[in-house]
Amino acid sequence: MKDQKGFTAWFTGLPCSGKTAVANRVAELLIERGFKVERLDGDIVRQSLTRDLGFSKEDRNENIRRITFVAKLLTRNGVAVLTSFISPYREVRANAREEIGNFVEVYVKCSLEVCKQRDVKGMYEKAIKGEIKEFTGVSDPYEEPLDPEILLETDKETLEESTNRVIKKLSDLGYI
Ligand SMILES: Nc1ncnc2c1ncn2[C@@H]1O[C@H](COP(=O)(O)OP(=O)(O)OP(=O)(O)O)[C@@H](O)[C@H]1O
Ligand SMILES: [Mg+2]
Repeated sequence: MKDQKGFTAWFTGLPCSGKTAVANRVAELLIERGFKVERLDGDIVRQSLTRDLGFSKEDRNENIRRITFVAKLLTRNGVAVLTSFISPYREVRANAREEIGNFVEVYVKCSLEVCKQRDVKGMYEKAIKGEIKEFTGVSDPYEEPLDPEILLETDKETLEESTNRVIKKLSDLGYI
């Protein structure tokens, strides 16, 4: 194992923007290079740590507060933490930044149109039909990051390009 500086790369963006895809690929590359890595992903965390929560603004923020706590513990113990949550509200992302310290905000930007076309889990279709309430991008807000460390445009780049840009920035920041 390498002597490594802990950090959290916080992926935020619309559903289907590519948070999970890029974070997984970055994780693979870091593991190959011998880094200690932990992934915190929305789909898994919402079935475990925060399974009691829904999608109101209050519950979404509570979701992120708990994840922030876990990411903070891991970061201060030298782990490369990659989180992938919609995390639509600016204020709680700012709180995560403050709490965690070594924080790299990755805005996974993608037009709503392309996200809807991808519709990996069929959720946009359900949301548009009104079968899912409070769906980000359709019936719930997404507050774009104003000054993220990394801006990915996944409707214009390949997965590999997006991944490489994250790796490059983590290297430039001295984390890897
Ligand atoms: N440059 C790119 N970066 C990331 N994903 C891309 C890119 N180009 C195409 N894709 C594809 O877009 C899809 C994004 O789905 P993914 O599950 O990663 O989204 P997500 O942001 O995690 O959504 P959710 O919020 O629902 O979890 C994947 O099928 C991925 O292969
Ligand atoms: Mg995901």
